[in-house]
Amino acid sequence: ARITLRQLLDHAAEHDYGVPAFNINNMEQALSIMAAADSVDAPVIIQASRGARAYAHDVMLRHMMDAVVEIYPHIPVCVHLDHGNNPATCMTAIQAGFTSVMMDGSLMEDGKTPADWTYNVGVTKTVADMAHLGGISVEGELGVLGSLETGMGDKEDGHGAEGKLSHDQLLTDPEEAVKFVRETKVDALAIAMGTSHGAYKFTRKPDGEILAMHVIEEIHRRLPDTHLVMHGSSSVPQELQDIINKYGGEIPQTWGVPVEEIQRGIKNGVRKINIDTDNRMALTGQIRRVLSEHPGEFDPRKYLKPAMEAMTKLCAERLELFNTAGQA
Ligand code: G3H
Ligand code: 13P
Ligand code: NA
Ligand code: ZN
Repeated sequence: ARITLRQLLDHAAEHDYGVPAFNINNMEQALSIMAAADSVDAPVIIQASRGARAYAHDVMLRHMMDAVVEIYPHIPVCVHLDHGNNPATCMTAIQAGFTSVMMDGSLMEDGKTPADWTYNVGVTKTVADMAHLGGISVEGELGVLGSLETGMGDKEDGHGAEGKLSHDQLLTDPEEAVKFVRETKVDALAIAMGTSHGAYKFTRKPDGEILAMHVIEEIHRRLPDTHLVMHGSSSVPQELQDIINKYGGEIPQTWGVPVEEIQRGIKNGVRKINIDTDNRMALTGQIRRVLSEHPGEFDPRKYLKPAMEAMTKLCAERLELFNTAGQA
């Protein structure tokens, strides 16, 4: 069944688990996620970005979501808009059947310029006021994601903050978080706590604590009923980098967020964990392998099936490690 983010994360909070939010752009990704959730009896969040909506069309996404809910009626699914950039985008997502939307007012509409307080509170409150009238959940974001290592905004590929950010912007202030939630009434809050989007999060193998756990703890202590969201949560597994590079890829050595760090976050109130990059890499590794081992192959199912299996395996592992498994 389709459920809202509020329903799902309230249950997660009550039972001390986290829920991965996996991005989709196509049928193969949607089916892979659902096969994983089904295999471990877990609820799941499927999210689509503005880019995904432009790629697949809202109508396709809407029918795809109807389809997976019909195929797996016993699996609770929250259908979430990832990084909505203005109230209109959020409202059209709701019209397309999303049960939850993110109004990311941490950046201006261009998705690059860090926004000020008044703008962020204004657009987020507008969306929350309207969405809540229809029983739809809302995620907001306070703080700007980027690398604590370099101080740079995180998008090499066209969205996310540009240029140098201050340490203040890269870590959400607990005091401000309380004010933000009080004024906007969001159900879930994405916070800046040391992660960044994409594959290139850390230039060295993280040793010890890489998340600002004190920030997470403090915000959770002050906002026990607001579910914390961790963007940029891919672990960028070495074996996925290796498969891609073994079969002709050229991915420079990089490190992501260790799963143990995410598990510590979950102990401190993180409930929604956004993962896209890992699944992109899982799919691409298998497509590269099959095409390179069988250069005469041209039936898409021959490479998409192994790709889906790799993505399903990764999603199922995350559902187990976040304790989502068994909670459907
Ligand atoms: O943070 C963004 C998600 O990974 C989705 O990426 O905007 O390229 O679809 P996208
Ligand atoms: P990754 O790039 O780490 O997978 O993060 C995805 C994300 O935060 C989507 O909103
Ligand atoms: Na989101
Ligand atoms: Zn994100």
